Amino acid sequence: MIPPAYGGRLVDRQLGPQEAERLALQVAELPQLRPEIDQVFDAAKLAVGAYSPLDGFMDAATIENVVRTLRLPNSLPWPIPIVLTPPGRAAEAVVADLRPGDEVALLDTAGRFFALLHFRESFPLDRTAIARGVYGTTDPRHPNVAALATTGSTAVAGRVDLVRSPDVPFPDLEYTPAQSRETFAKNGWRNVAGFQTRNVPHAGHEQLHRLALERDDVDALFVHPVVGPLKPGDYRPQVVVDAYRALLAEYYPPARVALGTLAISMRYAGPRAALFFAIVRRNYGCSHYIVGRDQAGVGSFYKPYACHEIFDEYSVGVTPLRFREMSYCTRCGQMASEKSCGHRPEVRAVTSQTRVRSALAEGRPLPLEILRPEVVAILRQSDPILGLGPVPRADPAEAAEDGSSAPAERRALEPLWTLPATGV
Ligand code: ADX
Repeated sequence: MIPPAYGGRLVDRQLGPQEAERLALQVAELPQLRPEIDQVFDAAKLAVGAYSPLDGFMDAATIENVVRTLRLPNSLPWPIPIVLTPPGRAAEAVVADLRPGDEVALLDTAGRFFALLHFRESFPLDRTAIARGVYGTTDPRHPNVAALATTGSTAVAGRVDLVRSPDVPFPDLEYTPAQSRETFAKNGWRNVAGFQTRNVPHAGHEQLHRLALERDDVDALFVHPVVGPLKPGDYRPQVVVDAYRALLAEYYPPARVALGTLAISMRYAGPRAALFFAIVRRNYGCSHYIVGRDQAGVGSFYKPYACHEIFDEYSVGVTPLRFREMSYCTRCGQMASEKSCGHRPEVRAVTSQTRVRSALAEGRPLPLEILRPEVVAILRQSDPILGLGPVPRADPAEAAEDGSSAPAERRALEPLWTLPATGV
């Protein structure tokens, strides 16, 4: 069944055109705040119901509860704080003058009015508590911990109304939860498995998709890559989307798979992020949620299967589909985990992004046993990874093997937003 939104009701705080127009005329008289891009995205997602039952940025008591207990004050499980911390002195001065009930214009990174905040309270952000509690570390090499360190020091709570959608990388693929629910219903899909990713697909991902699609209790797969701000070392969203389009067109049953994007920043919080992403996908209409090895992990900050265990402790009304690490077994000639393949690890080819990325960075042949030729061709046609530059010319043997040739001119893909490098 397409589940009801988390908490029971899908939040919808998108203003109609008349109301939006009226506010746009008044914006010069309103106090204004200009959040960073990740919080612009969060504001939009709050208003369209992606974070239901939240309808605004969290207050101090809610954040404290979420960090300490992984629950909202009403005891519903919720693992990640959603905070508004506009940076800079000018923002601090604006916030200092606000009184509960004031209306505040939120501007996007280009300075356009996009949302209205109903101010409730402001308070100092406890960065250390969030870093420790949510990310399990204060190590500045953790990308979210690094981002926390540079964000504004005062948090602002309040409900959000959406005046206009901020720019996103793929407007055509950026469904609202109401739109994805409608698409699922129109296709007659009752049970949809959501798939979180931020990478180009390899055979490990594909195996998870297929195992989900083989299940009796799953009607369809919703591939839903996060396409938020990038840090150096990330795949450019254009490459991820191109690769998925090619994979789906060539290999998947069109009547059972949908592709959408999710413009929010990545939360590399391992288990807490897995639970958060499952809640978000429930709001988009998914009844099932795929969790593989070390979902939303970074470096070696989390135990590879902590993202499985958290679903034993907290129930969020989505059936978790948990899978062990898949690798290509050269003896079996197929993908398998240790649950269905008894061969020694030495004969099983590691199926990871690290392998693909390091081959790309060093100009070594790509691991063709774990990549579809269409995906290889896309990786070769652009500078797919932020900060890497165009992919060095591959070994001619690989070009012959994968059928692709390095094009004379590579496409330059400009990222929309970037985050600082942290070295993990
Ligand atoms: S993530 O940060 O969005 O989790 P990624 O795009 O690499 O990263 O992974 C998408 C999903 O595939 C996650 O659920 C992850 O656990 C899973 N996954 C990736 N590689 C493998 C693999 N070799 N075996 C099992 N699961 C995998």
